[in-house]
Amino acid sequence: MFIRPRRNRKNAVVRGHIRETRLHADHLVYPLFLIEGSNQKIEVPSMPGNYRWSADMLLGEVEACLKLGIRSFILFPSISESLKDKTATYSYAPDNLYTKTIRSIKSRFPEACIITDVAMDPYSSDGHDGYVENGEILNDKTLPILAQMSLAQAEAGADILGPSDMMDGRVGYIREALDDNGFTNVSIMSYTAKYASAFYGPFRDALDSAPKAGDKKTYQMDPANKYEALIEADLDLEEGADYLMVKPATLYLDVIHLLKENYQLPIVAYNVSGECAMLTAACQNGWLEFDKAMPEMLLSIKRAGADVIITYFAKAYLEMMK
Ligand code: PBG
Repeated sequence: MFIRPRRNRKNAVVRGHIRETRLHADHLVYPLFLIEGSNQKIEVPSMPGNYRWSADMLLGEVEACLKLGIRSFILFPSISESLKDKTATYSYAPDNLYTKTIRSIKSRFPEACIITDVAMDPYSSDGHDGYVENGEILNDKTLPILAQMSLAQAEAGADILGPSDMMDGRVGYIREALDDNGFTNVSIMSYTAKYASAFYGPFRDALDSAPKAGDKKTYQMDPANKYEALIEADLDLEEGADYLMVKPATLYLDVIHLLKENYQLPIVAYNVSGECAMLTAACQNGWLEFDKAMPEMLLSIKRAGADVIITYFAKAYLEMMK
């Protein structure tokens, strides 16, 4: 034997020479859940270690994350039922929980990169990402609502908007609204291939945002499909998206790889609540070792081709690396 691949695995230094994939704080985005009130830090039961924060407490958390090297945050609001309606009017109400919180983070930590969520579900009495009429999710009636929400978020100082709703044409519609109003520098991170996945359960618990009736299969993609993601990616590219996202991440590594091979835009993967819950539960049972399994999960996403990873483990990972 002249060729022995094991020689390149013989010690940590040599393994370091040939390591192809590395995770860095710059690649991680940390999701944060918001609630009304003050002095609130409430753990999400199905996501141990993740909390709903009131704005005052959130600032401390953002500061701690910045110290660890996390510079990007994606925010999701938990809205009380009394503020929800059919057209999600609270999503663009002046100084609502969401825009108020963006302003307070940006004024205290201008260096924090704020990514938003553009979708109706946290604000909709129907719990859907689009406008519902007679049980149907109406695409074109949803677009102006998303545009209003986007403008409110851009005005509040958001750096990047994240349309997670999967309505057709929304990236172009939002891009035009932003440009017409002078927000040419606000980016769009499109949820390009967002699947109708069973792995969003803990997130919907956190926000109390589950659909009141029906499911999301008429707008989110079928988990059986891969090449359909290329249609979505083509459209997002044409409509002016700055990032293409695949969601969930670990169950869709093939889709991440496919988009990375076919597009020049940065690829984002959303390591969703259910993936986080699954791993955390196994570790709590003593069936997996968190310190080893969690980094392996993140590494697999990066190796598949993700440039950016949105993960509830961002903070735990960087704490571990210290
Ligand atoms: C909804 C939205 C969802 C997530 C992000 N934005 C849930 C859904 O589509 O029902 C899920 C994130 C997660 O599970 O971590 N606009």
